[in-house]
Amino acid sequence: MVLLKIVENPAQVLSSAAADVKKFDAELATLLDNMYETMVESDGVGIAAPQVNKGIRAAVLELGEEREVLEIINPVITEYSVDTNVDIEGCLSFPGLFGEVERSNGVRVEAQDRDGNLFEIEAFDYDARVLQHEIDHLNGVLFDSKMVRIVTEEELAEMYAEEEEV
Ligand code: NI
Repeated sequence: MVLLKIVENPAQVLSSAAADVKKFDAELATLLDNMYETMVESDGVGIAAPQVNKGIRAAVLELGEEREVLEIINPVITEYSVDTNVDIEGCLSFPGLFGEVERSNGVRVEAQDRDGNLFEIEAFDYDARVLQHEIDHLNGVLFDSKMVRIVTEEELAEMYAEEEEV
């Protein structure tokens, strides 16, 4: 596998809507494998194709405490819960930037897998947040535009320290 270069903001590919994937071929499979590898290497929980300079609707993310890998091709959010929550997000394309973003508690997503098979997934809480963040990427929407408050690295360090004490 190959580590890919992560595109950092600002960049045209990050702020443009990505194109639908039409070919479910070996090239797509390799891209997804490399995206996964790049995400893990960068300590991310999700990565969208535009972040590796591919303007196509594909993303890889990890769900749950088991960090189960999910690949979503041509994903569409078909349902949002009315209830929302505010939590801290970061993004591989914005090194050092963290902030609070309001997201729906739950989403239902329709997508295709790497072979083109349609599937549906329901996700809640942090998983739903990651899905919304990654699907935003495919629409050229970046988390800084939704941030309601910047969280400094000092604040983050304090939060982690408190968590460890518990
Ligand atoms: Ni991101």
